Amino acid sequence: MLTPFAASPQPLLEFFREAGYVHEQFQRNPALRDLPSRRLGNLPDLLERTTEPTALNALLRLFFLGVPLESEAVAGLVPLSVITPLLETGMLVRDGGRLAPTVMLTPCEGFLFAADPASTLESPEASGMVLWPNPSTRLLQMFTIRRPAGATLDLGTGSGILAILASGHSRRVVATDLNPRAAEFVRFNAWLNGVTNVECLTGDTFEPVQGWTFDLIFSNPPFFVTPSTGQIYCENSLELDGYCRDLIRAAPRYLGEGGFLQITLEWVQVRGQSWRDRLAEWLTDTGCDAWVLRSYARSGAAYASERINGIMPYSPLTANQRFGEWMAYYRARGVEEIHGGILAMRRRTGKNWIRLEDVAGLDVAEPFGESIVELFTNQDKLETDVSVDQMMAWKPRLPPNAQIDQQLSLVEGEWKPSSMQLRRPGALPSSLALDPQVARFLGGCDGARTVHELAQDLAAAVKIAPDQVLRQCCAVMRKLVERRLVLL
Ligand SMILES: C[S@@+](CC[C@H](N)C(=O)[O-])C[C@H]1O[C@@H](n2cnc3c(N)ncnc32)[C@H](O)[C@@H]1O
Repeated sequence: MLTPFAASPQPLLEFFREAGYVHEQFQRNPALRDLPSRRLGNLPDLLERTTEPTALNALLRLFFLGVPLESEAVAGLVPLSVITPLLETGMLVRDGGRLAPTVMLTPCEGFLFAADPASTLESPEASGMVLWPNPSTRLLQMFTIRRPAGATLDLGTGSGILAILASGHSRRVVATDLNPRAAEFVRFNAWLNGVTNVECLTGDTFEPVQGWTFDLIFSNPPFFVTPSTGQIYCENSLELDGYCRDLIRAAPRYLGEGGFLQITLEWVQVRGQSWRDRLAEWLTDTGCDAWVLRSYARSGAAYASERINGIMPYSPLTANQRFGEWMAYYRARGVEEIHGGILAMRRRTGKNWIRLEDVAGLDVAEPFGESIVELFTNQDKLETDVSVDQMMAWKPRLPPNAQIDQQLSLVEGEWKPSSMQLRRPGALPSSLALDPQVARFLGGCDGARTVHELAQDLAAAVKIAPDQVLRQCCAVMRKLVERRLVLL
């Protein structure tokens, strides 16, 4: 049982920070990329890499590797002013002459988050586990729109990490989870990080917030597509992808006008229905605009093997028995592939739009919530301002990180431009092949001049009839706006 300590957690947090127990350390150090695992047998190697008697290694062994340490050895490296609150809060317990950790601690954005130790994943306790921040947490963290919000909901909050990160841009955050142990962790983590505007409720999906509305709802739900075995940290009891479908269909009732839902999700492609058609069916008539980015697809066999040997290692059955069971489940339901990605939906009165896209993989090095807002703003323009006259009045501006790549070819002994590409790098990269005249036109997109003015200038420069240039500019402008290569 974790209990907030009477004194401020600040000195404790500072000690972890100064010792180097920070997010960058976990990213930099290849030894800290893999969780310690009995199955993988990597603990001896991880212990070997943390033998040097330093404060950081003591903290890593306790709160990442999850191994008990001799009290005396710890006392030589960690001051009493830190050991005392670790004991009083229950993050450490005495075990004879040793100190044993009860939690795993993950650093993120200057905060520290307690969750169950990694070893829980491989034990019968896995079904009631509160999961530590993992790659899908990180994806949602980077994806989340961080604009000021009144009320924010984190559905399926787990350790509360995303709720606590959202507390800085939300007046009030509600964190919900079916697992009652999650509430204990959220309250504790809020205290540990000095956050006071996060409230935690226990219950199924939207049940704890009936009748409430939010400006922002996000969720990293238990989306795994499995023959459910009750491991609620990642799977649910609905058929196939029914949990994500129901969540998406119910969410609009809990969003205020203009409010966003953002989730990570998986869905299936079944025989006779494309993945796009399946999603379009879910997203139609919701009262929301919707955008989905598919970032991976797996065959049933690849998916089952990855999950069984990865994040779902515990089962009384052997891996082969489980694999057989999963494959039979998929076969009986005509599952051909399992797809995954992210979804953003915005509640808006009027004729709604749906956009489904595909990328080979998502780079989550930096936050890209702002790109989502831009995408919705641009798509609104395309859906509503479709007349040429309206387009002429747009004042486009190039994003600051836009760049042009040019290729040269040797023509009769001279290097001549052969192709040009406008590119926007980042988590949601985008590009468009251009001809040099369009590049010239783009150079003038400063947010102050209208498309009409820019086209007139271009027509004069290239000595082509203004009408013809205007038509071409409109066609190019549509593509640029659609790909967020200009902002409006
Ligand atoms: C993949 S974890 C995400 C945890 C955390 N938000 C994160 O991103 O690290 C899914 C969470 O959903 C919770 N959950 C499972 N079924 C639920 C349900 N029916 N209603 C609400 N929460 C649920 C689990 O207990 C778990 O904490």
